[in-house]
Amino acid sequence: MQQRTLDSIRVNWPAPDNVPADRKVDLSWALGMTPNDLVDPYEPCGWLSGNSIPHLLFNPAKPDGNAGFGAAGGSRGTWVATHYKDIERVYSDNDCFSNKGTAEFQRMIGETFRSIPLAIDPPEHSKYRLFLMPHFSPSRINKMQDQIRGVVVEMIDEFAAKGEVDIAWDFGRVFPVRIFMSLMGFPPAMFEQFLDWEWDILHSNSMEKMSAALRGVLDFLRGFIAEKESIPDDHLVSAIVHGKIEGKPLTDDEKIGMVWFLWLGGLDTVAATISQMFRRLALEPEIQHQLRANPELIPSAVEEFLRTQPILSSGRLVKQDFEWHGVTLKAGDMVQCLNPSGNFDPTQFADPRRFDMTRKGNRHFTFVAGVHLCLGAPLARRELRILLEEWFTRIPDFRVKPGTNTSVYPFLLSIRNLPLVWDVTTHP
Ligand code: HEM
Repeated sequence: MQQRTLDSIRVNWPAPDNVPADRKVDLSWALGMTPNDLVDPYEPCGWLSGNSIPHLLFNPAKPDGNAGFGAAGGSRGTWVATHYKDIERVYSDNDCFSNKGTAEFQRMIGETFRSIPLAIDPPEHSKYRLFLMPHFSPSRINKMQDQIRGVVVEMIDEFAAKGEVDIAWDFGRVFPVRIFMSLMGFPPAMFEQFLDWEWDILHSNSMEKMSAALRGVLDFLRGFIAEKESIPDDHLVSAIVHGKIEGKPLTDDEKIGMVWFLWLGGLDTVAATISQMFRRLALEPEIQHQLRANPELIPSAVEEFLRTQPILSSGRLVKQDFEWHGVTLKAGDMVQCLNPSGNFDPTQFADPRRFDMTRKGNRHFTFVAGVHLCLGAPLARRELRILLEEWFTRIPDFRVKPGTNTSVYPFLLSIRNLPLVWDVTTHP
């Protein structure tokens, strides 16, 4: 793949008056919509956190109207932060940046409720975060540990003796979604329908399909909330529906806003991470050997998988005019943080492209930073750790099945199929 340079991505497209010409670039290729077949699929973005790259680039909306990175800021286009310290500020400085409108796909079909807690700014955010936190605390996750291990072991045992599994479709897609659905109390029969809806919302690129999926999922969730109102159970949706914040029951908008965002944020983020993790393990067998020999490194290896495969990049809205890095940001401007660039910033990570499972102080942005740090991160980490622990005691060295296309979209739902094979030893 040809290495891009700043000059090769510069564009001359129209942009708002506050954008200097030398900051205008086309980063549509950096959003994860362009597949590649590299062992480290995020490599094409790494150079953007280099020393010679201006702090704060700007991606104008494409003049031909095609959705690209610039589309994140509507017709104005978007600023893009690519250096670690800048990304850290955007995620943490709640006086200058807002989460209003983040992940609020529901607006497309005229819904007015907010996505809770993601689209809520401090200080209001903390009451929702505090309300949800006990359900994701370490002690709560400890209680789920046996169930997580049980599902992993049961699933691996089903295919171990066959010497083959499609790790993306038959395992990665299924295991975390089963855990998530049981946490929430959703009926297992909805599994395929949920994944279809999510695919249409995030990836169909068709307004018609997105709208139909949004209508489908919101109708279902509202019906499910009504059901839990009359028949409570021990799961999270029921706890939300019957919960109180600051002594008051939740409003209908708060209930649907919370259940909807958990559905969106929790459904398949771990699935995408698993598929990419096994792709890397298969393509770089040295990592397998190191982990097999040093299972105590599994927690720090999980952190390194997360750092090197940030499946999301997030944006924030500028709240007020201010000067930063020689430009004026205007209230209403959008700033996108390019996590796959910040996670490889050489000023923060020594030898950033190297997969180093002994790396210390691995403060990456895969779960962002600041008050919106992923609430499900402890659950995701636990699932990934347990999976690797059980996998390496049951499955010998593995590789990608010959003839497989290993191209990946470095983003959510990034690889649909990834058959892996290993040698099965039969005892006489
Ligand atoms: C490897 C898996 C996961 C990744 C990479 C991930 C990533 C993220 C990111 C990047 C954000 C912040 C978005 C932003 O600020 O714009 C976020 C927030 C959030 N995530 Fe996750 N997530 C994962 C798993 C989960 C799971 C399993 C759940 C729930 C079961 C979950 C629930 C949430 C919630 C509730 C928030 C909002 C937190 C707040 O606004 O205070 N996530 N996640």
